[in-house]
Amino acid sequence: MKKPIETERLILREFLLSDAASMFELDSNPNVHVFVGKKPVTSIEQSIASIKNIQQQYKDFQTGRWAVVLKETNEFLGWSGIKFVNYKINNHQNFYELGYRFIERHWGKGYSTEAAKAFVQYAFNEMKVESLYAYADEGNEISRNILEKLGFRNRNSFEYEDEMQVWYELKNPNL
Ligand SMILES: CC(C)(COP(=O)(O)OP(=O)(O)OC[C@H]1O[C@@H](n2cnc3c(N)ncnc32)[C@H](O)[C@@H]1OP(=O)(O)O)[C@@H](O)C(=O)NCCC(=O)NCCS
Repeated sequence: MKKPIETERLILREFLLSDAASMFELDSNPNVHVFVGKKPVTSIEQSIASIKNIQQQYKDFQTGRWAVVLKETNEFLGWSGIKFVNYKINNHQNFYELGYRFIERHWGKGYSTEAAKAFVQYAFNEMKVESLYAYADEGNEISRNILEKLGFRNRNSFEYEDEMQVWYELKNPNL
């Protein structure tokens, strides 16, 4: 297992199967899924399968989404992290992508921004990634705002699963 990352309020760590109930709370909420495919999960087995899938990505690509927990209480808040995308999206393939998703009752406290910032630093300084990419539904203003605050540049728009998405890139300033 990779060493967890600590920020001011958060611990970022690899997923454990024991996160399944929290993952189910996250992904069974339709409000969470408005801009990410509109397919909330309906059973805990789906959450277990998605954790197993993420753990397989750790093995295959040495990276994937990590759990974000509150330092003070150890409570699971959501996930963020760097996924290696080995399939084609918007004419890109084999790239590193930043993402995040949080349980609704924890929105609006800056957790997503705090976690995403730490993962950008980790990708650039530890993983030596040349360029980080991200994409968000055109209407997902909160997510787009986070990316733009972090310095991501809006590159173009594309259609993905019938929704218009905005494609972002942030280059590693150290390379
Ligand atoms: C997008 C998401 C991860 C944001 O998480 P978060 O922890 O609430 O984000 P932050 O608290 O860091 O807030 C980021 C900004 O959005 C603002 N914001 C957060 N929630 C808001 C709301 N409901 N209404 C208006 N503004 C809001 C914050 O004030 C902050 O703005 P600021 O930087 O100007 O202060 C969260 O809403 C989520 O999980 N959504 C569903 C999944 C999703 O869409 N993921 C992204 C896919 S691209």
